[in-house]
Amino acid sequence: MDDWKALRVSAERLAADFEALSQIGATPDGGVHRPAFSPAHLEARLWLGERIREAGLRFRIDSVGNHSALLACGPDHAATLLLGSHLDSVPNGGRFDGALGVLAALEVLRVVKEAGLSLPVHLEAIDFTDEEGTLVGLLGSAALAGKLSLQELQAPRGGRAELLAGLQRAGLSESGLPGARRDPAGLAGYLELHIEQGPRLVNAGVDIGVVSAIVGICSYRLDFIGRADHAGTTPMLDRRDAGLGASEFILASRRLVLDEFPDCAINVGEARFAPGAFNIVPERASLALELRAPQADTFSRLETALLDLAGATAGSHRLGLEARFLGRHQPSPMGSLAQQAITQAAGDLGLRSMVLVSGAGHDAQSLADLCPTGMLFIPSQAGASHSPREFSQWVDCQNGANVLLQSVLRMAYRK
Ligand code: GLV
Ligand code: MN
Ligand code: MN
Repeated sequence: MDDWKALRVSAERLAADFEALSQIGATPDGGVHRPAFSPAHLEARLWLGERIREAGLRFRIDSVGNHSALLACGPDHAATLLLGSHLDSVPNGGRFDGALGVLAALEVLRVVKEAGLSLPVHLEAIDFTDEEGTLVGLLGSAALAGKLSLQELQAPRGGRAELLAGLQRAGLSESGLPGARRDPAGLAGYLELHIEQGPRLVNAGVDIGVVSAIVGICSYRLDFIGRADHAGTTPMLDRRDAGLGASEFILASRRLVLDEFPDCAINVGEARFAPGAFNIVPERASLALELRAPQADTFSRLETALLDLAGATAGSHRLGLEARFLGRHQPSPMGSLAQQAITQAAGDLGLRSMVLVSGAGHDAQSLADLCPTGMLFIPSQAGASHSPREFSQWVDCQNGANVLLQSVLRMAYRK
């Protein structure tokens, strides 16, 4: 008998958790500010630990700070099916990104525990450390997957001093981080529920997105270096204006992507001019550049093309260029087993689904080549995300949590 197909999450319990978590690090405009290892992030993790204990689940924190709820519902030596997401947010972010996936994962464990199901696998709901890249990006999942790059820790995109201070606040040690690695043989799979963070589901009027792949993400710090000069007396054509070169690069790189890499995206999310005064021609202009592509070959062609463009733009303004590589996560196809489970679970629940590529990065990227991995999306109103405007209808959150539950059971039973 497939009685498990009738199981559903408790929407009230999930909603109560969601409202309580949204208060931690709440911003006046309805979002949350919970960058990795900030006081609000650490408070959210304490709160999660309490919910886990309250549910009678085993609670574990590993050496990279990943927080887990464990349900031993399989035979003694069974592998573990992981489900989860992250509680950290971008600065001044939204309430749904990551948080919904962690809470839905916890709810799935509570439902399975209450139903007293014995599965062929154990279940673990996990809150990964520093998904958002305020410090490193996918830090917890990369460590768990044994992919933590020590080079990234020496020059992380959020700054080395910030990383070390954050680890200390969380009671973690840098040397201990790689110890969070898990043997892939012990992983039965990974499933993650997330908001889409874009407008495709809403525009198509579809309930559930079945993710086929996650884009690769690569970041650089680009410094254009010119000469500081008097802003009033130096003839316009004699200046070596680093700000001008950097600005031209921003415009030209956008053109390049639109013309030659239509399925890719780039972003210059921060620009700093130094010395930084009204009356000094900028000597140094420092840009935070991120590039994203869905396939490995396009990803490396885009990276080369952007670095070439930065070099050429600097040259044409008689500027120097320092390009500092700050980290890369490869594009990751999702597993067919998980995609099938999600599609069938959605269908069983009477929900419409469609296949799409994720333009956002996710912890599933770290695990995709180690175990059967999948992600499901729910609609994001107006496609807004990484902003307090981020919003999903509660019915969609509830649907997503039920699809997660049923996908987990399908993955566990291999149905
Ligand atoms: C994470 O959400 C990212 O895509 O930056
Ligand atoms: Mn996220
Ligand atoms: Mn995010």
